[in-house]
Amino acid sequence: MSNEVKVIFANDPFVSENAAVKKFVANQKAEHSSVLIEGTHYIVVKECKEKEMTLEKVRATAGNIARDVSAQKVETAIIEDGVISNAYAKLDKGLVLTAFAEGWELGSYQFVTYKSDVKAFQTQLTVVGDEAKPFIEAGKIRAAATAFSRDLMNEVSNVLNPETFPEVLKKNFEGTDVEVNVLDKENLEQMEMNGVLTVARGSVYKPSFVELVYRGDESKPLVALVGKGVTFDTGGISLKSGKDLSDMRMDMGGAAAVSGALMLLAKSKAKVNVVALIPIVENMPDNTSVLPGEVIKYKNGLTVQVGNTDAEGRLILADALIRAGEWKAEYIVDIATLTGAIVNALGTELAGVFGDYEFSAEMKKIGDQNGDFIWPMPLVEAYDKSLDSDYADMNNISSLSGAGSITAGLFLRRFVPKESKWLHVDMAGMMSKNSATGYYAKSATGYGVRLLADFTTHISN
Ligand code: BES
Ligand code: MN
Ligand code: ZN
Repeated sequence: MSNEVKVIFANDPFVSENAAVKKFVANQKAEHSSVLIEGTHYIVVKECKEKEMTLEKVRATAGNIARDVSAQKVETAIIEDGVISNAYAKLDKGLVLTAFAEGWELGSYQFVTYKSDVKAFQTQLTVVGDEAKPFIEAGKIRAAATAFSRDLMNEVSNVLNPETFPEVLKKNFEGTDVEVNVLDKENLEQMEMNGVLTVARGSVYKPSFVELVYRGDESKPLVALVGKGVTFDTGGISLKSGKDLSDMRMDMGGAAAVSGALMLLAKSKAKVNVVALIPIVENMPDNTSVLPGEVIKYKNGLTVQVGNTDAEGRLILADALIRAGEWKAEYIVDIATLTGAIVNALGTELAGVFGDYEFSAEMKKIGDQNGDFIWPMPLVEAYDKSLDSDYADMNNISSLSGAGSITAGLFLRRFVPKESKWLHVDMAGMMSKNSATGYYAKSATGYGVRLLADFTTHISN
């Protein structure tokens, strides 16, 4: 293909005016295909049926085209803003342009750090039309923040670990309005973050805790976004076994989500008041590791028996929830790759959200719009006592054989400060994709960046 392509949709007037293109379109099977007409390379995109017109469809279509032309090393793709909005006439014009740019950038995302013979290449999208500019820019900001989160998730665990993660965040937030405060192991000891300290015991890396602060408008209620940062989860002494564990480097997906969300909020100058709280550990078996049966005493006085060292996420999130109380956060949203059970329940197309039903439903609506799909799940009161322990206030695993995501949520609820409104997002099923489709690349998704940023904006208005 040439260095430059033009993108048009099959329902564009250009098609009906040109006999050659018309004939081509009549036989077109794929969602998009390329055709050479009078020296110009066109990418012709199939007409989108009205009932299939959603912003997600726009993002996916743009992503598929972008990945395709990028693979063919096309330098530039030109499309007129009117062509895009006409193709999705039912939807809001500005939102469509943003979705198109966002999908384009994310669809051509690549993680090639360790490929000696591949350089990341993205076809530059040029949208013609002055009014489109701010909408395209918004889409690019959303994509860049999500790509930042994907990069963090994809990175390997010897490079991104509890000691280096804070440095990576410092570097990435340089020159932004986000303040990066790093608490080291000594700070954690003074602050009695005993869940974090306990889980980290088996690792050669010292644990850390990062606080990202963005004060876009200090008159707004403080929102705390808590993200699980396990840079690798072996299970610890309750060792995971069997299959390929390499995806467990992405057990910091929650940490990546809140980091990306702060990037998105700061870059779009959102009028919000937000802090991200990120406990960071590696969960490893060693002769120094926490052993099943040990008891952790938390700063708020609660004691937890470690029934299973593989239920480590909730142990470190508990410290972060207590910390959110010290910040006096009005709203707390935690996000974590917390349970395999949520994958059984919901699969890999949506995350689960736990907490007050009405509040969860508000979050679901945000996800329906922005592509970070989520479904409200119940915190069943009757299951709460399954967390009882013989000799501590609670166990970190439930005695029930089912409902693992719910009991994990109930565990977390015990650490939520009384004054705060809280939601818990379990994104284990959304951590990674098995293949590249739509605007997703294979592997890390960057799930939660858009969800948390948009939800924060929503509750601040
Ligand atoms: N990080 C895992 C959960 C997970 C599983 C994330 C699959 C992504 C994909 C978590 O720390 C874990 O090990 N959870 C256990 C909890 C159990 C021991 C109560 C699980 O889900 O099996
Ligand atoms: Mn685990
Ligand atoms: Zn884990």
